[in-house]
Amino acid sequence: MLLEIKSVQKHFGGVTALRDANLSVREGEAHLLMGENGAGKSTLMKIVAGMQRADGGEVLFRGRRVNFASPKEAAEQGIAMVHQESLLAPHLSVGENIFLGREEMSGFGVVRRGAMMARAAGLIERHGFPLQADWRVGKLSPAGRQLVEICRAIANGSSLLIFDEPTSSLSENETKEVFAIVKKLKESGAGVIYITHRLEELRSIGDRVTVLRDGATVHSCELCDLSRGQLIQHMVGRDLGAIYSRTALVPGEEMLRLERLTRGSVLKDIGLTVRAGEIVGLAGLMGAGRTELCRAIFGVDAFDSGRIFVGGKEIGLKSPRDAVAAGIALIPEDRQKSGLATQLPVGWNLTLASVSAHAPMGVLNGAAMRATEEKYIAKLRIKTAGPGQKSVRLSGGNQQKVVIAKWVAQGAKVFLFDEPTRGIDVGAKTEVFETMDELARQGAAILMVSSELPELVQVADRILVMRQGKISGELPGKTTQEAIMSLAAFEEEVRG
Ligand SMILES: Nc1ncnc2c1ncn2[C@@H]1O[C@H](COP(=O)(O)OP(=O)(O)O)[C@@H](O)[C@H]1O
Ligand SMILES: [Mg+2]
Repeated sequence: MLLEIKSVQKHFGGVTALRDANLSVREGEAHLLMGENGAGKSTLMKIVAGMQRADGGEVLFRGRRVNFASPKEAAEQGIAMVHQESLLAPHLSVGENIFLGREEMSGFGVVRRGAMMARAAGLIERHGFPLQADWRVGKLSPAGRQLVEICRAIANGSSLLIFDEPTSSLSENETKEVFAIVKKLKESGAGVIYITHRLEELRSIGDRVTVLRDGATVHSCELCDLSRGQLIQHMVGRDLGAIYSRTALVPGEEMLRLERLTRGSVLKDIGLTVRAGEIVGLAGLMGAGRTELCRAIFGVDAFDSGRIFVGGKEIGLKSPRDAVAAGIALIPEDRQKSGLATQLPVGWNLTLASVSAHAPMGVLNGAAMRATEEKYIAKLRIKTAGPGQKSVRLSGGNQQKVVIAKWVAQGAKVFLFDEPTRGIDVGAKTEVFETMDELARQGAAILMVSSELPELVQVADRILVMRQGKISGELPGKTTQEAIMSLAAFEEEVRG
């Protein structure tokens, strides 16, 4: 047995990422690690690779208990990880990145750059990757960076390799090469852990599979014993924790319509409508294009073709400024960084964006501003000691209400929420849903990106599912988590 993970736990503040994770890997085995977004897969692997430390449980490597304090310590034991998000140094070359932190030194302590670059070039050529050792990493595409990560992980002959969803950005040929690498690693006696949603592609190289759900191992078996339908059942089915139930409104007039929106291979022919009073869920796996769609609608990324209509009128989008003028609001994933001046009073945050409206002829009308502040605090039921309270003192849910109120004050009618409940506790989640419901009741149209299947099922009136840049299907709000996952992950629907 190469690796044994027993009852590992990990918390981030109030968020439990891992409750009871168990997994074992033998020498020469390729082990698939599967589970919904947010199940805890990356966190578990980061613990094995020394990037995070567990709060409880134990990890045994070759029978010995380990608790790595850094990726370097893990690497010294022969453990390497190919990360989902690139951790490379953008200003350095491909070759330097591959050997970063373990450069060959001459007897005088000087890096033997020539030898290093030659080794890197050899490695790249052996695998036929479209890279050159002297290219700067910062100029590479996401796929290119992923390939550099892979070279880096295999360069030093590790005995346990972890791949965190490596192929979502790769081409077919590159994917084949990654599978060939996994095969070779297995033959050399190394263990491989491979995080993926692509079960069928990996049937030929995977030996066993472990499914994580909500931070706990729910199933482990030989890959050949697991059908697609069973896998989906193991993956989904989490509880929401707090029960939220929304009564759908009768949808009003059309607020947002997209026609054949296309951007490279990221967004393909997207069409959808959202009406006043509707909350439409946007489901999909990581990399499916949901965030990219929001960015395109908000004018952040230009699209190649297609049309966007707000309130029945086509809008030309050159920048977020145009989107805002058309009444579109984007509430991105990280609300702390974007949209809220946490050190300023709540009231200021509400009126900052519309200061000019409160300053006819250049003089600020304090009374009018105060009235606006009070109005929106009441309208969105923001729980605060008053407009003078610093925003940083509010709860997560109330901070988000401030961000939303700011948009309402600016006349927004179409709201794009990107993962509105990520990283907030259960109580705050309910507040967020109440705010969305309130917005919908006031006539707004809401598109909600979420990776949380129980939330989508309970909050959305309709659910659109994206897969690989396309809308792969639409489901009614009261659907099953299995139905969403099946559209999100697989080519054809699972029957029976
Ligand atoms: N650094 C972090 N701080 C706070 N929460 C985190 C952090 N990393 C992960 N989480 C949370 O832990 C849970 C598991 O995340 P992750 O391990 O990335 O899942 P997966 O890789 O299966 O999608 C999620 O709820 C996520 O929001
Ligand atoms: Mg992950």
